[in-house]
Formats: sequence, structure tokens, C-alpha cells
Amino acid sequence: MAFAYRSGVLCAEQVSLEDIARQFGTPCYVYSRAAIERAYREYADELSGRSSLVCYSVKANSNLAVLALMARLGAGFDIVSGGELARVIAAGGDPAKVVFSGVGKSAHEIRGALQAGVLSINLESEQELARVNDIAVSMGKRAPVAFRVNPDVDAKTHPYISTGLKQSKFGIAYADAERLYREAARLPGIRLTGIGCHIGSLMNDSAPFVAATQRIVALLARLEEGGISLAHIDLGGGMGIRYQDEAQAPVAAFVHGALDAIGQRKEKLLLDPGRSIVGNAGLLLTRIEYVKPGEAKNFVVVDAAMNDLIRPALYDAWHEVRQVREVELDAAAGVYDIVGPVCESADFLARGRKLAVRPGALLALMSAGAYGMVMSSNYNTRPRPAEVMVASGAVQLVRRREAVGEMFAGERVPEWN
Ligand code: LLP
Repeated sequence: MAFAYRSGVLCAEQVSLEDIARQFGTPCYVYSRAAIERAYREYADELSGRSSLVCYSVKANSNLAVLALMARLGAGFDIVSGGELARVIAAGGDPAKVVFSGVGKSAHEIRGALQAGVLSINLESEQELARVNDIAVSMGKRAPVAFRVNPDVDAKTHPYISTGLKQSKFGIAYADAERLYREAARLPGIRLTGIGCHIGSLMNDSAPFVAATQRIVALLARLEEGGISLAHIDLGGGMGIRYQDEAQAPVAAFVHGALDAIGQRKEKLLLDPGRSIVGNAGLLLTRIEYVKPGEAKNFVVVDAAMNDLIRPALYDAWHEVRQVREVELDAAAGVYDIVGPVCESADFLARGRKLAVRPGALLALMSAGAYGMVMSSNYNTRPRPAEVMVASGAVQLVRRREAVGEMFAGERVPEWN
């Protein structure tokens, strides 16, 4: 367990979160290197013996420390912007193991990806195919591409993070895939390397993932009959984690389901998990500013807010709240909403939790390693929190707390006359 109580204090590996708060302040994201490694190795072990590559989805947590750890473990990367590519390179990642997805890649980003030598550009529209071809030709290159095909499978997850249905902006329509592959095969700037899909995030059940794989495999067979053979199948990410006590299919169920559907096919298997690698390896540490009993509700006002962790406000997501100092929840406990200082009623981190709290005490919002810091903002001109990583019993700062001046350093008051 990455986070557990030792002598009544919640610790990250062996390090007390009280010590971390004293040293680095709050709010602060805390990651466990061992937990990230363990989650990555689960994929690597399940895939061992098969030609495969785990492309960690950078969007889930793009801190350079996380990316450098992934690179060291041999992972590839799934990116969605030129910015993420720059991070991967800065962290020592290999561009030849990068897949580039996203519906709106700019010409500048495509040029950068070709220059860096990525493994695959995952195309999401016919116009993007034409743009990539033109750019590659102008650079005297052939762009390695895969189409991201929308298999029209319901991932049965939150609508905001479901991406595999016909109504979704992502991918090319299943029915158009064969035509587009044939068209692409004729273009001088294109080298067809793979096929991809990603049906959604936070899947608790592996069945939709396996159904999507089956659809992609059927398409592969048809493409092959038409004389198009590909080097890789990229099944995306989306494997869920347990936030509360929900039933959650293990990583093995996703991997084995996909491998069964792929059968004897020889294409290299790519997976792009994000959340399932970092989600449960991180928490957001926050301090209670005020306890505010009310007529209808009781509030705990903490120093973290929706700008630091937006998942509860955006998806009504549930994050476990733990008291850093272990307490017996006796009669003194109350039921509280945990809210931040931001001026929005949606600024809650958790609601209706039973706690025994006092001002100054520390709370940990669990399972915040994925889509936490990366989705943070400066709303209300709040500096972004610090990030630390615990490894082998020591804590290291992996991103310093933002300074107030940094938030408006790029702004200018114009010269009015
Ligand atoms: N591959 C593609 C093409 C993706 O779009 C995504 C996530 C992933 C891989 C990684 O999915 P994961 O394994 O992390 O589920 N902000 C939301 C999640 C958005 C996911 C977007 N795409 C949240 O906080 O729940």
C-alpha cells in the first residue's frame, strides 16, 4: 500500500504526510514512485512474451518526474499536443515510442512530430490525412500514421469521458475506415503503420473494451484482404481504477480480453493507459482553514479548491477523504462538505463525509494522481500547488509551488493615450 497509517499518521510509503506538509506546505500533490512502478509493471507483466508497447497517456499526469520514470521503465507515450511531446523529450523519453492522438493537431504540431520521429500519428479525420500528407511531402518524409477508428461501442462511463460512440467528435467512422485506408495507401507522404481506437476513460468493466477490440480486429482482417497490412494495433486506454468501493475489472481482464480477441495476429499491441498507472499513486494534501457549521449543512473549508482538483466539480467525481491524523469517528464526528476558497458553489472536493475535524488539521484527497494537477488552473489567481514524489523513503520536490508573480508575469498593461 502506497498510502497507509503508521502510528496513527497517514504516510506516503514511509514518510509522514505531516512532515511533507511542514516541509513543502499545502495544498500539495504527493506521489509514490513505487505505486506508479507497480501499476506500470502490471501491464508489462501481463504483456510479457508478446510484441507490445505500453504508451503511458501523458495527459493523466505530465510531471517530468513521472515521465522520466516511465521512460526509465521502458514505456512509450501517448500524447495529444506539441506541448506534451516537448515534455516527453525533456524528460528523456524516446520520440520513436510516441503515438500522437487528438482531433485538432495543428500544422506546427504535425511538423514537430515528424521532425522528432514519432512512432505514429493517429489520424482522426479525412482533412487531417490530407494535411499530414502535404506536410510530410514538403519535408521530404513519409509520415507514419494510424487511423483512430471509432468502433461505435458504448464504454458505459461518464458521458464527458466517453469517446467511442457515433455522437463523439473522436476518430473516423467505422464505416469510412476501409475507404480512408485505401486512399491513404496511395499518398506519397503517408506510411500506414497501424490502427487505433479509444472508447472512453474510467471503464469499470472490460466488456466494452473487448467488444471494441473485436470490431478493430474484424476491420484489420478486411484491410488485409484488400492488400493493406499494418504493424500495430493501438487499443487506447480507459482502464478504470477504484475510487470508492465500486466493482472494478483488474488490468489483467482488459489485457487478456484484448489478447484473446487478437488471437494469432502478429501486429504489435499498443495500450495507452493513463489513470490506471498514476491515479491511485497520488493524493492531494490539504489543510483545514475553517470548520463552518451551518443550518442546512456543515462545511470544512480547506486550502485546496476546484482549481487544484476539478474532478468533483466537473464530473461529480468521488474522491475518498482521509484524515491525516487517524481519529476514532465517535459521537464527536459530523457530516461535512469539503469545500475550497474559490467563489463558486461548484467548488467542492467532497460532499457529505463523516469526519471529526478541527481547524489546522490535514486531509488527504485520495486517488488524485491522475487528472489532478494537469487539470489545475489559476482561477481566482490561486497559485498552483507544489508536487512531491516519495521514493525509497525520501521526498523530493518535483514541481515547486507557483509564485503569485508568475501567474501574471506574461501580462502587460497597454500604453493608453
Ligand atoms: N488514449 C486516448 C486517445 C485518450 O483520449 C485517453 C484519455 C487515454 C488514452 C487515457 O485514458 P485513461 O487510461 O487515463 O482513462 N479528465 C477525465 C479523463 C479524460 C480522459 C481523456 N482521454 C477524468 O478526470 O476522469
